[in-house]
Formats: sequence, C-alpha cells, structure tokens
Amino acid sequence: MQTPSPHQDVIPILDFGSQTAQLIARRVRESGAYSVLVSPSVSVDELRDMRPKGIILSGGPASVYLDDAPRCDPAILDLGIPVLGICYGMQLACQVMGANIEQAGRREFGRAALDIKTAGGLLTGIPDHTTVWMSHGDQVSDLAAAGLEPIAVTPSCPNAAVRSTDPDRRFYGVQFHPEVTHTPHGIDLIRNFVYEICGCSGDWRMANFAESERERIREQVAAGGRVLCGLSGGVDSSVAAALLHSAIGDRVTCVFVDNGLLRKNERDLVETTFRDHLSMDIRVVDASDAFLSDLEGIVDPQEKRRRIGHRFIDVFKEASNDLDDVRYLAQGTLYPDVIESGHGHAGNAANIKLHHNVGGLPEELGFELIEPLRELFKDEVRKLGEVLGLPDQIIWRHPFPGPGLAVRVLGDITPERLRILRDCDEIVLEEIVAAELYRRTSQVFAVLLPVNSVGVMGDGRTYESVVAVRAVETQDFMTADWARIPFDVLATISNRIINEVRGVNRVVYDISSKPPATIEWE
Ligand code: XMP
Repeated sequence: MQTPSPHQDVIPILDFGSQTAQLIARRVRESGAYSVLVSPSVSVDELRDMRPKGIILSGGPASVYLDDAPRCDPAILDLGIPVLGICYGMQLACQVMGANIEQAGRREFGRAALDIKTAGGLLTGIPDHTTVWMSHGDQVSDLAAAGLEPIAVTPSCPNAAVRSTDPDRRFYGVQFHPEVTHTPHGIDLIRNFVYEICGCSGDWRMANFAESERERIREQVAAGGRVLCGLSGGVDSSVAAALLHSAIGDRVTCVFVDNGLLRKNERDLVETTFRDHLSMDIRVVDASDAFLSDLEGIVDPQEKRRRIGHRFIDVFKEASNDLDDVRYLAQGTLYPDVIESGHGHAGNAANIKLHHNVGGLPEELGFELIEPLRELFKDEVRKLGEVLGLPDQIIWRHPFPGPGLAVRVLGDITPERLRILRDCDEIVLEEIVAAELYRRTSQVFAVLLPVNSVGVMGDGRTYESVVAVRAVETQDFMTADWARIPFDVLATISNRIINEVRGVNRVVYDISSKPPATIEWE
C-alpha cells in the first residue's frame, strides 16, 4: 500500500519567474494548505499525480505575446481543477482561452483603487472599494469571446479581476498581486481561493512539511554514503542539521568551524545543543590560529572577508577529507537566497545578488547538494525549528555574519581587541534580553571602533577604546531602521560596559538607518 501523502491539500504554483512567486506559496501555506513552486514545463500527468486541489499561475517579467515568453501546457486549464492566474499567469491563461493581450495604454505600477463589480466567490468578504498592488505593462481585452467576464476594475484596468463564465472551467485571474502586503485584502483573496474555490480543509501544518522533507531526504540519499552539514550556529544551518538528523540519524555529520571570531559562549551553545541535546555527530574544528594569523595587519573589510572565505574552504575541505564516504553536502539555503541568485524555476527572475550559500563550495568538493529549506522563508524555518524541538535560543537567534567579529572589530584584529568586543557584546545582549527586547529587534550587537577617546576615571585620565552599540529592526535585512531602545536600557548598557570591560571608556549608540548606512559597520 502506498504511504498517504502528508500533504492532503496541495496547490502547486507554476513559477513564471516572478520575484514574488514564493510569497504566493507562503501565503497559501499560511492559509493552511501546502504549496510548492513547480516549473512551467511541468506535464499535465505530473500535475495530476500531485492530486492538486487547485493550481496557481504566477506572475513573471515576460510579455505573453513575445516568442520566447514562458508557457505551460494549455491542457492544465481543462483538468477541471480550479486555476488562479496572477498578473502574467492571468494574461497567459486568458490568451490560451482566446482573449487579446496587448500593451496597456497606461502602465500601472504601485497602489491602485479596486472596485468590485461582482462580489462573492474569489472576492468574498472583500470591501467593494479597496487598494491593490499593481505591477504590469500589458493588459487583457476581448474577454467575452474567450468565455470570461470582469469581476473587478481599477481606473486604468477594466479587467483587474476576471473569471470564466463556463461552469466547467473554474478559472479566476487577477491583474494585481494579492500575495504582497501592499494589497491589504490579498490574503483574504488567497484564502477564498484555497477554501471557497478549491475546497481545502485547512489542516496543513509545518509538521507535514517536516515529514515530507524527511521522505525526500531519505530518497535522495538512498544510495548510501554520509551527509556533511556545515553548522554555523545560526538558525538556518541548525534547522537543516536537525531535520537531516531526524531523517537519517547518524548518517549526518556536522562540522562546526571555530574561526576565533565567534561571540562569547557560541561554541559551547552549539556543542551543547547538537551533541548533548540532540545527540548528533558533531566535529568542532578549532582553526582559530590559522584565521587570526591570516588576518594579522589586515584592516580592509573586503580583504578580511576574502581571507576568511578562503581559509574557511580550506578548513572545511580538510575536515571532510577526514571523514569516510561523504557523498552529500547539506546547506541551510533559504528561498530568498535562491531567488536573489536568479535560480528560480523559470530561471528568468532578475539576478539581484549572488548569495554566498548558493554555488561555490559543493562544486569544489564534488558533493551532491542537499538543501531542505530552499522553499522556505525565515519565519517558516523558525516554525520548523520549533517542530523539530530546537531550543528557543537557537530558533530566535539574530543573524550573525559569516566573517563574524572580524567585521565588528574595525581596524586591526588582535586577540585583545577581540576580547574587548566579546565582553561588550555579551553585556549588550544580556541587557537586551533582560529588557525583553531581543524578540522585538532584528539584530543587536557591539562594534569596536578604531579610535581611542579621552576619559576620566577616578582621579586619572584615560585614553581608551570607543564601542558603538547597534540595534536594528527590519523585515528582510535589505532595508532597516535603527531600533528605538529606551534610554534607560542604553544607560545600563553603557554603565556596565565602562565599569566591567577593561579598555573601554566611551559607548555610543548608532542612529543610522539602512540605507544609507548598512547594518554592519564594515
Ligand atoms: P549589511 O551590513 O549589508 O548586512 O546591511 C545585512 C545582513 O547581512 C549580514 N552580513 C553578512 N553575512 N557574510 C554574511 O554571511 C557577510 O560578509 C556579511 N556582511 C553582512 C549582516 O549581519 C546583516 O544581517
């Protein structure tokens, strides 16, 4: 007998290269059904095998009337399964049904006022006049001949939402983007599609995802051999490691590199969590001497990063050589890392930046890559971490940059300056936790500046280091605002640092947003 799928309600999304395709998946998952991106070239049989309750066609950067525009099998619209087309996905489906798609007289980018003409169905419970987020240069016309009718309009888009008039063809299309938060009732529309239109039961949970990923991991490694997992101590690699361990037990070995640039107690936390708490096979490689000697006299931030990156690869390679029969490398790559590298399904999402997790190391090592989190967003990874029983301390950790304290000790990196920064950083974090601000901030840390300042302590003059405290709030780390930490908390931090950390006589608070500043100082 076949094992029942852990996902009863599946809504696949054909990804035509939209930057927000995975956001649609996440909204569907938030609604309680499982969703995953698939390539537009998926066959009708493959889709049918997934037993989908509905299908979504995503947006994308192309124009459907161009020769090289991505397409899908038109038979998808005849499966008798509800289909929701979003932006490009709507235009493509409407074209297949016989409507006309042309360049709009006026492009629409940003907020637009939507008037609902026919309530109910997909638009159930949404106010008659609402705001939606538009991003399109083409639009659909000649609906009637295609068996379609408009159900909502904006001042410059007469067919902002459409539906099929044929009861056997349950097609809906929206020219706007319901998945983004700038469409305030977008989540209601997606819920309507999931429940009203597709009839999902809404009982999908992250535990189902954990189970199906375990299955997938077991299948991928069925040929045997060990899986190597680089642990940084951050939430992504930790959740990836815990998931792998729950799938294949001691066939996974974690490597944690102590580069001498870690925060206080970081190595202990990782060892205690993974070795003692989760009983995993974890190898801690102490390469701090090598890293610190590479960094001697280096003050340029990019050069620091370059040297740390090279040394890391050497150390990691050496550690993997010491293990028998390693065939796979696991990485905690998340969806935003994948899409930012232009590696989406359609392969045509604009390339914004190349992320350090994608590519590079696995090719060099000749291992097959396992990336069990590549469909998830950060907050979904945290939920998965909870399902896997990781401690809060790991799940809710603020991100920590790969080059570690090297980019927070500005100027020369010496053991003494690292000691000063570690002690300051520990105090900052202790006070932020004590004030119950850790979960309300995105990243908080101390930075050791390359200047000395004059002070007076007791009866004597001092000439010592200056430390900056940085605290930011952000959703995506691409933009950030400085956190309004209460003055009394800042006062305690400053007092404690100056009294407890030898070598520091001044503390400043960083009140710069990103942009124009960045989160890190280097
Ligand atoms: P910035 O300073 O660019 O930081 O505003 C944005 C986020 O990225 C982290 N960061 C890094 N992470 N390697 C990393 O793995 C790096 O070289 C690096 N530089 C910055 C930073 O901590 C913040 O979360």
